[in-house]
Amino acid sequence: MGRLDGKIAVIVGGGRNIGRASSKLFASEGAKIAIFDMEESRAAAVTEEVAEQGGECMYVVGEVQKVDDVKNMIAKVVEHYGRIDILLNCAAISDRKPMLELDDEDYRKIIEVTQNGTYFTCKYVAEQMVKQGDGGAIVNFSSGSAFNGNKQRVAYDMAKGAIVTLTMDMAVQLAQYGIRTNAIAPGITGSQVGGMIAMEDRSTNNLVGGRAGYPEEQASVALFLASDDARHLYGQTLRNDGGGSVL
Ligand SMILES: NC(=O)c1ccc[n+]([C@@H]2O[C@H](COP(=O)([O-])OP(=O)(O)OC[C@H]3O[C@@H](n4cnc5c(N)ncnc54)[C@H](O)[C@@H]3O)[C@@H](O)[C@H]2O)c1
Repeated sequence: MGRLDGKIAVIVGGGRNIGRASSKLFASEGAKIAIFDMEESRAAAVTEEVAEQGGECMYVVGEVQKVDDVKNMIAKVVEHYGRIDILLNCAAISDRKPMLELDDEDYRKIIEVTQNGTYFTCKYVAEQMVKQGDGGAIVNFSSGSAFNGNKQRVAYDMAKGAIVTLTMDMAVQLAQYGIRTNAIAPGITGSQVGGMIAMEDRSTNNLVGGRAGYPEEQASVALFLASDDARHLYGQTLRNDGGGSVL
């Protein structure tokens, strides 16, 4: 018996790092997976990996900030699997500059993808879940960056703060339909957002746990939030950060 037996899970940004680990873990717990990612090669590779471990996976290519792409993804998933039970929102892009150096167009792009993209997948998948009539679970990714000032970032941090608020609003508005919404705020995990290379040296004194996290350690918390084990949890953002937030 898997914890997600018979569930259909959409993993947005499932092509890499945390989304990849979550796709594989959710499949190993019995879910059928649909990856939504803008990079076809990544989505196809993870789809193959899930199949190799005996799971079922499809992918749809598109961009989260484009409403037509989001609607197309939902239509394709429903056509293929018949429904959607779980949404996990992993897609994001980040800035690496202080406000005074950040180009306005770059600022708009980061808010567009990281904040508005999360909003659109939430809105339209929730609409689909409401239509189905028997609930669902939505898990968003915020970040530890939402809770601290940072010298080298601003747009990403703002978007991640907005996701904390979005998650609470959705929890309140969607509970009447049996849809639970929660979020995770990771500390540094695997490769940095948008990074291609996994961190070799994970050691850091800034964390109670003494090291940075592995993508699988975010995936296991996402699994908890998506499963019935978290049936009494609404609107929370869990700080899954090796204790970085308590030091
Ligand atoms: N990795 C970390 O250290 C860390 C820390 C805090 C929070 N987070 C959050 O966790 C989530 C996952 O992070 P990650 O490190 O796995 O990210 P990542 O950059 O490794 O992977 C993101 C995936 O999303 C896809 N993507 C990017 N923009 C897209 C778009 N516009 N439309 C569709 N797909 C798009 C990419 O192709 C990629 O496959 C993100 O929301 C991130 O902000 C990560």
